[in-house]
Amino acid sequence: MASTPSRLAELSNTVSKNTVILDQYLRDNNIPKPTFDAHDPIWDAEFPPDIQKARIALQDASTELIDLTTGSRRYLSKALNGGVTSMDTLYHLDIPHKVPLDDPEGITYQELCAKLDIPVNEYALTRILRAAVVHRIFKEPSPGRIAHSAASRLLATDALLFDWLGAAIDVMAPKQYIGQAITQFPALDEANRSAASLTFPKRDGEYVSFYEYIAQDPERAKQFGRGMSSFQTGDGYSPRHLVDGFDWGSLPEGSLVVDVGGSHGDVDMAIARKSPHLRFLVQDLPETIASTGKARKIVHDENLNIEFVVHDFLTPQTVKGVKIFILRWILHNWPDQYCRQILQSLLPAMVPGSRVLVFDGVMPGLGTLPNVVERDLRVFDLTMLGCFNAGDREVERYRGLLEGVGLRFGGCWRPEGSRLSCIVGEWEG
Ligand SMILES: C[S@@+](CC[C@H](N)C(=O)[O-])C[C@H]1O[C@@H](n2cnc3c(N)ncnc32)[C@H](O)[C@@H]1O
Repeated sequence: MASTPSRLAELSNTVSKNTVILDQYLRDNNIPKPTFDAHDPIWDAEFPPDIQKARIALQDASTELIDLTTGSRRYLSKALNGGVTSMDTLYHLDIPHKVPLDDPEGITYQELCAKLDIPVNEYALTRILRAAVVHRIFKEPSPGRIAHSAASRLLATDALLFDWLGAAIDVMAPKQYIGQAITQFPALDEANRSAASLTFPKRDGEYVSFYEYIAQDPERAKQFGRGMSSFQTGDGYSPRHLVDGFDWGSLPEGSLVVDVGGSHGDVDMAIARKSPHLRFLVQDLPETIASTGKARKIVHDENLNIEFVVHDFLTPQTVKGVKIFILRWILHNWPDQYCRQILQSLLPAMVPGSRVLVFDGVMPGLGTLPNVVERDLRVFDLTMLGCFNAGDREVERYRGLLEGVGLRFGGCWRPEGSRLSCIVGEWEG
């Protein structure tokens, strides 16, 4: 009787089969193969869906191979000590910018210490950097010398990415306090009772929410805003998914679309270019609306029908007859009770047939996506839980929120290649 292949053998087959597919695609399209070398192209292109599928399958199987051959005791210890190195040291000492950008020989640890703004312990810094080197952030081209790898060079050359690192380290890393927060505030239903709130200085003896904290410091707010822009640069967050993922053409001439918390109106501009028969209103907080100068210029130059107005989405709408409200990347920042308030506040502006188009992360059922993909989603979800007591909800939970304020659930779908999904609520009057 033929013996069935072991899981290890199955995984190794999956790895080799998908490596062949990926390799062939790179060869056929003259795409440079990925390396860790500082000057090689950064390999962050999106591939056609079948090749992207092979890439994920390859990552998924290799991760499972590693996990399976690690053993549970060692695996748990790795999970506990998950951090690569002291990333906050790399950020706060500005190490990526202190290592010469274009010298493959790099500099000695002693020379690096001399370039820092404060005197630091060279031995400790060497160990921190070597922990990064084994994770392919920086290289040691010869003993005692530190140089850039592809990843560390990216931190030195992509200013938005560096801001994202800063925001992730300084304000968005409260996962280790979720246990403390859930003990102290078991309901986890208030914006200023999150794990992050425990890490922020209190104001007048009261905990502050994530947004209250960053609003106190313009530099921090800027760092966060730029970090978010960097986070959203990938194709998975492209405005094109909202442009192509909804039938804008079916709306009657002159229909009013309101983008609630729409920031600088990027998605509205993208939709307006393809659907000039629609009118758009972008609503946001005063400081955001005040900073829309460049966006307004584009709107004016291209003759797009978009207006920017201040409106607090926690208060009832004052516009009337809105055909569609867009809530892109809003609800995942708010606990359920505030989501209900945000949705409820839209109702005074709706007429029978009006819709709410939520465009946000949707948590899939456990085990329904490749494990490597689901790991990313769940880490992101816990970051939202830690920062805001919110998160990427399951579709049934979105449905509950919509129906809870009297909207009919009109479906949920994810446009191909998008990280976010459309969830529709309809007002029947
Ligand atoms: C995560 S961003 C999403 C921005 C935009 N919708 C997008 O998809 O890129 C959240 C937005 O909500 C805005 N916001 C936060 N609180 C608000 C409030 N109470 N009223 C209106 N806008 C608010 C922020 O200024 C920010 O622009």
